Amino acid sequence: MQSKPRSFVLRRGRVTSAQQDALTNLWSRYVLDDTSDKLDLKTVFKNNNPVVADIGFGSGETLLHFAKNNPHKNFLGIEVYLSGIGSSLSKAGLSDLSNLRIINKDAEIVFKENISIKSLEGVVLFYPDPWPKRKHHKRRIVQEEFLDLINSSLIPRGFFYCKTDWEDYAKHISKVFESVKGWDKNSIADLEISYQEIPSTSYERKALREGRLLNNLIYQKFI
Ligand SMILES: C[S@@+](CC[C@H](N)C(=O)[O-])C[C@H]1O[C@@H](n2cnc3c(N)ncnc32)[C@H](O)[C@@H]1O
Repeated sequence: MQSKPRSFVLRRGRVTSAQQDALTNLWSRYVLDDTSDKLDLKTVFKNNNPVVADIGFGSGETLLHFAKNNPHKNFLGIEVYLSGIGSSLSKAGLSDLSNLRIINKDAEIVFKENISIKSLEGVVLFYPDPWPKRKHHKRRIVQEEFLDLINSSLIPRGFFYCKTDWEDYAKHISKVFESVKGWDKNSIADLEISYQEIPSTSYERKALREGRLLNNLIYQKFI
């Protein structure tokens, strides 16, 4: 059987010297390199605080906001894009954050191989690559199998919070949720305040300038 095509195309983006310095100096502090087995997140973060995963955090604007403003929670960012990791590391180092870790790997593999069942309080997926052409829809990260993996990674009543500026992707996501079991549809008001009040990011401002609407899709795992 043909496996699902990846949800990203790895381009050799330019890494600035500031990003490179952060990659060199802060990699060992924040990036989890040895991720061949299931992660024991209590050991990784050295505490029992709840853990939220941010899939495809880009340059880390929201991830860093979450980590700075929620010191009693841990954040696990998953991203394939090195320059974004460099920017995020540089900001994490400046704020001396201890509740953040990063995995530089395809999130679909991370959820299959490294995330233990019932280990996360929440999963955020902000502005996943929309793959607007019909022939590329199978590249979209939100598919039944992926939602099942996320569901088993969450604790009872854990949340999945997705934003997209592509109407067609929002419809696709709602449709996939309708076809899988184990989720209640929620709204922003059901989330903790710290997840409701998020500063707008450069990606969102660009989407709004280009006339696209921002869609919030929030689901909660059944008990
Ligand atoms: C459109 S950007 C959004 C970035 C960020 N979440 C934001 O709100 O600005 C999508 C990001 O997802 C990352 N990405 C796509 N597929 C991924 C995957 N399977 N695993 C990890 N990261 C992925 C891309 O590298 C890119 O940085």
